[in-house]
Amino acid sequence: MARSVTEWVTVTGDISIIARESGGVWFHSPSCTKEGVDPFATPMTGAGAAGSTVGLLDGAINLGFAGIEKRLARPDPTLVNYTVALVGAYHTSVDTPRNLQRAARRFNELGRPEVAAYLEERAREETGHDRLALKDLRALGLPAERLVANFVPEGIKPLCKRFDDLCVQDYPIGCIGYSYCLERIAALKQKTDVEKVQAMCPDGVDATRFLRSHSGLGSEVTHVEETIEFVASLPANDRISVVQETYESALIMAEGYNHEFLKSEAEMLAELQQAVGEALPYRLSSYPSHGEKRGARPAARAE
Ligand SMILES: [Fe+2]
Ligand SMILES: [Fe+2]
Repeated sequence: MARSVTEWVTVTGDISIIARESGGVWFHSPSCTKEGVDPFATPMTGAGAAGSTVGLLDGAINLGFAGIEKRLARPDPTLVNYTVALVGAYHTSVDTPRNLQRAARRFNELGRPEVAAYLEERAREETGHDRLALKDLRALGLPAERLVANFVPEGIKPLCKRFDDLCVQDYPIGCIGYSYCLERIAALKQKTDVEKVQAMCPDGVDATRFLRSHSGLGSEVTHVEETIEFVASLPANDRISVVQETYESALIMAEGYNHEFLKSEAEMLAELQQAVGEALPYRLSSYPSHGEKRGARPAARAE
């Protein structure tokens, strides 16, 4: 009988993630083991399996978000913070196909057509998602193009830069970890999250195209499943790099959440109005002050 697969990756100086094919996941600190007998001190070299690879990937996200998890107790959306989230969603989507195609070309040059094919497929699937965010912004009565041209939420900037940087590396395997992180978190959103947004939109306004497609209701679930299968099929060195980047991306995303989370509704509204150079339509500007004391929904949540 084939032995169950165990995979492990060191993501920080003192924490490794260990995952079994059967589903168990542990965070392991080398200092906890007896001297000289840490079997996880050397990088894994064996084949992967979907059951253990998903444990590593999701373990990396959980670890990256560990510092803020409690503070992000899913605050209710408001029109102001949802608008900021849509602008963030636009910026994390607009360059995705081009970036993935660039990484795919590099893998073709490197003689890795299977990675190139995976990235090309992803690039096709992600094409047009920026336009979903623009349509949603327009549906809310906003000058969408002007808004996204003049405003990138602070919490989103490092995330966009990370993806740009990853895709131009000589060996751009990390872009898979970044994409997994964003898609996995998006896929956690459920029907109730969409309904909450729909409930606060004016009658007849559909501003949830991007959210629906980047939630547990849309294509994101399939994207996540396909990525897990693909990463599991990669050589150990690649799986290690992908998991390490999933962790780094989760850290950057968590910091971005924190940044946006600390802002008040008034601050966010001021940023939006400054970007468009005018007072926003009544649906936003007349938004009552009861949102002031709430935590802002983080910008990255829409992706
Ligand atoms: Fe997308
Ligand atoms: Fe996706």
